[in-house]
Amino acid sequence: MIVLKYFPLVFVLWTTSVNGAERLSPLEKSVAEKISFRKDVWPIVKRHCWGCHSGADAKGGLSMNTVAAMLKGGDGGPLFEIGKPDESLLLEQITGDEPEMPQKQPPLSKAKINIMRHWILGGAQDDSIAGEGEFKVLIPDKYKVAPAINSVSFSVDGKRLAVACRSEVVLVNVEDNNPPLRVPSNSDLLSHLEFSSDGKLLAAAGGSPARFGEVSFFNATDGKLISTRRIGHDSFFRGSFSPDNKVIALGGADGAIHLVAVDAKAESKRFELHSDWVFDVAYTPDGKTLISGGRDKTIKACSAETGKLLRSLDSSTELISSVAADGLFGIAAGRARTLVGYELKIALQNIEVTGAGNGAKPISRRAQYAKAFESQPGEILDTATSGDRKAIAVAGAFGDVRVYNIADRKRTALIPNVPNPVYSIALNQDATRLAVGGKQGTVGIYQLPEGKLLKSLTPVPVAETIAISP
Ligand code: HEC
Repeated sequence: MIVLKYFPLVFVLWTTSVNGAERLSPLEKSVAEKISFRKDVWPIVKRHCWGCHSGADAKGGLSMNTVAAMLKGGDGGPLFEIGKPDESLLLEQITGDEPEMPQKQPPLSKAKINIMRHWILGGAQDDSIAGEGEFKVLIPDKYKVAPAINSVSFSVDGKRLAVACRSEVVLVNVEDNNPPLRVPSNSDLLSHLEFSSDGKLLAAAGGSPARFGEVSFFNATDGKLISTRRIGHDSFFRGSFSPDNKVIALGGADGAIHLVAVDAKAESKRFELHSDWVFDVAYTPDGKTLISGGRDKTIKACSAETGKLLRSLDSSTELISSVAADGLFGIAAGRARTLVGYELKIALQNIEVTGAGNGAKPISRRAQYAKAFESQPGEILDTATSGDRKAIAVAGAFGDVRVYNIADRKRTALIPNVPNPVYSIALNQDATRLAVGGKQGTVGIYQLPEGKLLKSLTPVPVAETIAISP
């Protein structure tokens, strides 16, 4: 340790003598020695660079996750050589009249640049603690309280129901009473589960707030992990598989629509159309258009290929929690208790949209293409379409679930007395079964249209049962 401890100082003296230009005053020398990567340098990197220079899509191929990654550098070579800050790519990029980095942000202050410079001059010592701040998910054998259920999804054959319980996916058998299969993920919180329409994959999306978005793809039959992809720097919400099952589109807490390719080698895309969290994204059945909505209260239609905004279909008075699409309609629902279908053929005719997404205003032709369903008794938290996209179910902060025929917007079923609030619902292929999960942590499976409860269970083991007096 002693060698390590004094190594930087020796190094500074050595580089100083080799490089006349790098002569340090005694004060500088003692400052340089005391600079801690963990306490001084990392906070600067984290605040100003890490957002773009980390993860799978690190810009310029440069990851600044660790000192080793910085020494390795990106497309342009190492970020710096130890002891030689003034010849480094790092200093070149962050200094000057109009520094290139951090991109599109104010330049670093002189003081911060000095810290980086002196740290390199002082040997770029790495006092980070291995694994510190690294993300670890803990999945208990037994939960103290049943976790809320954020997502449910039927397998294509309807025999299994995937249930999102905090960080794990639980595969519940619909037809028999065999015990559920618990499949862990590395996401802090899972927010969206979906089986691909070819029956092969199960996608589980979520992430960790302000850290990363994550999608894991599992084999739909045995629950084996196929691949996991961490993308961006904030969690994902909900979305949908593309009709060809090659991509999953997800709304992000970073305000973007993310198109995550199943093939880990294929490029993922992000479309920035919304000014706030995107809660949900849906593909039209032809795979050409995406419908999206979120906290900015707008409902948008964009090209799934390019992300070009086709139209801001509508704006609500409240946030949009859920979107859907069939062959004719884009559908959106949210806190305003409304469920509205937008006839896309009419809505997207003669589109004149200029500029970027957020400036585009819905126009008065709205009445021609916006068709409201029956209004709901409370805030809508989720909608679900059947696999054949003929039916849509609606639920939220109220004690029933309603099912509608999308084509004529007529109600076909009403299931009363479901545990309230409902966070997530799912329909099977032909809308003969409905699954309901929510805050209470139980899942109910109902027969449609009569609404008979077939099964009700808590998908994960819970240690203590809390007695509730009648
Ligand atoms: C908003 C995003 C963003 C932020 C923040 C950002 N960068 Fe970059 N950086 C980029 C992009 C994009 C590129 C690649 C294209 C280019 O060079 O403009 C890049 C390239 C670089 C390169 C060249 C990489 C190579 O090997 O070619 C360096 C060095 C760099 N950035 C350093 C930094 C540092 C240091 C910070 C923090 C002080 C920072 N960047 C913050 C987006 C960003």
